[in-house]
Amino acid sequence: MASAAQHHLSPAASPRWKQLIESAISKFKDQVVIQMSTLDTSPTSPPNTSSPSPATTTPTKPPPQVRVRSLIIRSFLTLPTHPSTPLLLSSTDIRTPKVSQITTTPQIELAWWIDGTKQQFRITGRAVVVPSPTQTQAYRQFQLVSLPQKEKSGKGRGPGGGEASRFGVASVQVGEGGGKAEEGFDWEKKRVEVFKSMSSHMKATWCRPTPGTPLSAHGGPDAAKKWPVKIEEPTESSSEEDKRNWETALNNFALLVIEPSYVDFVDLGVVPNRRFEFVEVGEGKWEETELVA
Ligand SMILES: Cc1cc2nc3c(=O)[nH]c(=O)nc-3n(C[C@H](O)[C@H](O)[C@H](O)COP(=O)(O)O)c2cc1C
Repeated sequence: MASAAQHHLSPAASPRWKQLIESAISKFKDQVVIQMSTLDTSPTSPPNTSSPSPATTTPTKPPPQVRVRSLIIRSFLTLPTHPSTPLLLSSTDIRTPKVSQITTTPQIELAWWIDGTKQQFRITGRAVVVPSPTQTQAYRQFQLVSLPQKEKSGKGRGPGGGEASRFGVASVQVGEGGGKAEEGFDWEKKRVEVFKSMSSHMKATWCRPTPGTPLSAHGGPDAAKKWPVKIEEPTESSSEEDKRNWETALNNFALLVIEPSYVDFVDLGVVPNRRFEFVEVGEGKWEETELVA
């Protein structure tokens, strides 16, 4: 059992788990691929084989299915209003299945293995999607339903997560003009900034047909060879097609913001191995406990 001496309350502006990640990726800059799980509450494809319904009975709704995929963490984002809760910033395509999974069930968990330092960070929290303000009302209402806008105390948060996002992200989705969030952070400006920072090759991925749909529905592999491979910011003299492609890509591009509430850190780079958990306990404090590795 952990003694009181093993607990540390960290009021630091930058939590120790963040410092550990920053230290690791400062040495291994390309080790920013994580795997993030979400819950799919209306699985259709691939079929959920864990609970087959006999053909003779009425089909029952399949149980929720866990999904997982790789993502790139692009940066930390620390809002001046919440200095002790760093957000993780990734990006995605608004049309991908993870978006509806997150908007329905924002609780996520991710695993970040940094091979260079032999360290694993397992982060539990909530994810929020910040789409283009031009996206349809359906997306915007999705966000409104799933993410109440008002800040609550973080007390008692832990691996279970389960509270509203506290960063005014939801108001971006639903606010008139899609501009500034309640607490003054301009999420649309950030979204455009991150989009522009992507390579021209990456930008082109957001103006392809909907990811995950059958290629045959879009002309097959031969048609795919003609899709744009690079997109540059248009100038006045750019062609109408180039301008259209830029707009399409920017409209499909979405920020994926992860708000951690619990971090399980395992250090296999030291002997004996060490393991710590960090629980956000509210008022900007993280409680740290060393665990058996
Ligand atoms: C190394 C690597 C990095 C990736 N990074 C991202 C990313 O940052 N954002 C993203 O949406 N998809 C990324 N993908 C693709 C996803 O893993 C996934 O295939 C795609 O987004 C569809 O996911 P979904 O069907 O769960 O929505 C990456 C894939 C790999 C292999």
